[in-house]
Amino acid sequence: MNTALVIVAAGSGQRLGSSFPKAFVGLAGKPLLRHALEQAVSWHIPHSVVVVVPEGWVEPARALAQGLVLPVTVVVGGDTRTASVRQGLQALPEGVTRVLIHDAARPLMTPSVFDRVHSALEAGSAAVIPVVPVVDTLVTRDSTTGATEGGVDRDALVGVQTPQGFDAGLLLAAYESVTGEFTDDAEVMRSAGHRVDSVEGESAGFKITYPQDLERAASLLGHSHTPLVGFAMDVHAFDDESPLYLAGLVWPGEKGLSGHSDGDVVIHAIVDAVLQAASLGDLGHHFGSDRAEFAGAPSSVFVEHTRGLLLEAGLVISSVGVQVVGNSPKLASRRLEAEQHLTALVGAPVSLSATTTDGLGFTGRGEGIAAVANVVLRRATHH
Ligand code: CTP
Ligand code: MG
Repeated sequence: MNTALVIVAAGSGQRLGSSFPKAFVGLAGKPLLRHALEQAVSWHIPHSVVVVVPEGWVEPARALAQGLVLPVTVVVGGDTRTASVRQGLQALPEGVTRVLIHDAARPLMTPSVFDRVHSALEAGSAAVIPVVPVVDTLVTRDSTTGATEGGVDRDALVGVQTPQGFDAGLLLAAYESVTGEFTDDAEVMRSAGHRVDSVEGESAGFKITYPQDLERAASLLGHSHTPLVGFAMDVHAFDDESPLYLAGLVWPGEKGLSGHSDGDVVIHAIVDAVLQAASLGDLGHHFGSDRAEFAGAPSSVFVEHTRGLLLEAGLVISSVGVQVVGNSPKLASRRLEAEQHLTALVGAPVSLSATTTDGLGFTGRGEGIAAVANVVLRRATHH
């Protein structure tokens, strides 16, 4: 493969105000970096991919690339975009003659722009950028007085997007020959004396910079504020050997439940409903007996892990309701305590109720306890 795509995703996203790197912030159920990787997969020209991420984010990035039919290398970037691109270029596979450099922060960029950039390279361009017309009237402005001057020729100005395409050898040489910081790679090529050609960009390929950009992208993807709903049940048999853990509380003197972890059916049902609402699989998939790291872990650990998965997917829990089905324990005396405990654990209001089954079925015969949970999730507008 002689074409490579470098996805720069090592920025912190300061203007977005996120508590973790911008490329890992969720949009319509998946992180921006996953959108970028899916763009790469949907682009039909065979190519390899280098992803540049912040220190400490290599593993999460690899996880996002898992299962994609593309060779993906993940490397750590630097303090500036220029430094990050340098790291990415060093990781290019042997034999690459054309390289496209793309911001992970442009989740809606379309494959046709990748095509146009690539075609220009095939036609002999050393450097090519996608550009979009400037629609607003432009003036110059004195930043101290605020006074403006007209006379700017808008027709001669365009906005610059990514992916930007380059002859790989010339780009590597250009980066060798320059020092300092550049806002993009085309500017590095210009500094090294190369001509930079342009092709038509796409207004949808705008860069996510501020929180409102994330909301605009979400609505363009048809992601409204409709909540997501999950519904799940869990059952465990009584086990006389164990203490009872239920709804995150210990219940002295009550028959315990068997189970891979602490057997807390209430928490298991909640976690399963959350995963279902978020389309993230189920309890067995994330915490099954083949996941050694969770063996014997208290159920609260499942909740914490699941909250992390939600954050990555750009989702938050709005509310949880759980019904406990069984003859014992009698929930009423500790219902408020259990609700408060679960509310703190889940980070959203949890309400609990209970019922028996009139002596019928396994719960009626006193063989075990069931819990059914409903969960409502909403999309985080930003983090
Ligand atoms: N980028 C990078 N390494 C850096 C800085 C930026 O790889 N040290 C990447 C970003 O991840 C992004 C692209 O360059 O995909 C464009 O940068 P920008 O939109 O400015 O992203 P951030 O730098 O993350 O955002 P901010 O400037 O608001 O902090
Ligand atoms: Mg930046």
